[in-house]
Amino acid sequence: MRLGVSGSQLPVINGPRRPPSRDTYDRRVTVTPIRLMGDPVLRTPAAPVVDFDKELRQLVTDLTETMHAAGGAGLAAPQIGVGLRVFTWYVDGEVGHLVNPDVTPVGEEFEEAAEGCLSIPGFRFDTRRNVYIAATGWNMHGDPIRIEGSHMLARAVQHETDHLDGVLFVDRLDAEARAAALAVLADAEWNGEQAYVPAGDPVPSPPTTEPVVKASPH
Ligand code: NI
Repeated sequence: MRLGVSGSQLPVINGPRRPPSRDTYDRRVTVTPIRLMGDPVLRTPAAPVVDFDKELRQLVTDLTETMHAAGGAGLAAPQIGVGLRVFTWYVDGEVGHLVNPDVTPVGEEFEEAAEGCLSIPGFRFDTRRNVYIAATGWNMHGDPIRIEGSHMLARAVQHETDHLDGVLFVDRLDAEARAAALAVLADAEWNGEQAYVPAGDPVPSPPTTEPVVKASPH
């Protein structure tokens, strides 16, 4: 090992310069306003994706960038006003997305933990979820995907799948807790607003990794 090597002593590799990539220059800003609870789009079941085209890939990019800008663990297309069955997640440093998901709880184990929603900003309520799930679906290129998740990933997948059915996490609370939550939410400062643009820095998002834990045709 050599110590104290300065930058000027490092070998210079001469080669073709890469042209400025769209990733670094002229990057399209795709952070999109997030709809707030009260917007009817959040209560409307989303439609299955039929065309795995450029628009779908742009939608996944928009969701991913917006989710990162908002510091969220997941974001579903209806939350940015798009009624399609697509969501993204960012859990344990892993970014993923699923199109037309079919989610199945695995086992009978549940856990209650604080849960929030980018469409209900600033609030968290203890919510009971299955600890383990399996899900099938497609990636944005139309390849079949199967994932298995536990704890935070399982929670995120259940939460985002609910969004595709017009269900919000407060609906998962028992009647008493839900009534208390709705009473608190009635005083939310964003109550009556339709949407907000997340203020985070959208640029340094990690590259989208395919959510392949186990992939198999189905
Ligand atoms: Ni949510």
